[in-house]
Amino acid sequence: MLETATAQAAIAQAAERYRPAGRWAYGFARGKMGGDPAYKRVLELLEGHGRGTLVDVGCGEGHLLALARALYPELSLFGVDHDGERVATARVALHGFERLVLEAGDARTVSLPACQVLCCLDVLHYMSLEDQDLLLTRFAEALAPGGILLIRDGRSGAGFRSTLTRLSEQLAVAFGRHKGEGVYFREAEATRATLSALGLEVELQDCAQGTPFANVLWIGRKPGAQA
Ligand SMILES: C[S@@+](CC[C@H](N)C(=O)[O-])C[C@H]1O[C@@H](n2cnc3c(N)ncnc32)[C@H](O)[C@@H]1O
Repeated sequence: MLETATAQAAIAQAAERYRPAGRWAYGFARGKMGGDPAYKRVLELLEGHGRGTLVDVGCGEGHLLALARALYPELSLFGVDHDGERVATARVALHGFERLVLEAGDARTVSLPACQVLCCLDVLHYMSLEDQDLLLTRFAEALAPGGILLIRDGRSGAGFRSTLTRLSEQLAVAFGRHKGEGVYFREAEATRATLSALGLEVELQDCAQGTPFANVLWIGRKPGAQA
């Protein structure tokens, strides 16, 4: 089990890397890494998957990559995001990292490396349901036997929380905070069914602790032994 002190030390170390990218980038990194319940949970789930390649789809400014390297230095890292400015910030913050590839491109078309861990946090809903299905298929293909897929996103069907989540994302897209084609959520069980049909063993967890949002974490495990 990941100790709180260990996680806090990793957050401090990873956030420190954002100072050269400016005060805003540093403050955002610090707040996001320390305040978003997804990060601590994802880092816990990485235990036992600390070697091989971690892919972060829609990596933004690279916060998860910085954290993963702080805690699991043996992991090779691959991040992709279609927002060139965010990738530029990630490049400044992660400067000097070995075994790191950062791509400015569309997750639907960029070639994903074979990986032991694939993360996709708060990204799927920016694309149509058809494209989400396409991406989930690509994730399942890229994942090595014994690998783990971690998807965090909002869901529909949770009443006021879903409405609030949708609204805040629609505003973020409208005001250009996030680049996306729209906001498309669906029922958590529908995504679980798609992942199961792709051959993954799927677990669903609430991932909104301390926030008013309707966020969940889909944990997909690909059967087989790790190489
Ligand atoms: C809400 S941010 C989340 C960033 C990061 N995953 C995190 O947890 O902090 C969503 C990110 O997904 C990226 N994104 C959305 N659609 C994408 C696509 N089709 N290809 C690549 N990146 C995409 C956006 O540019 C943005 O950086």
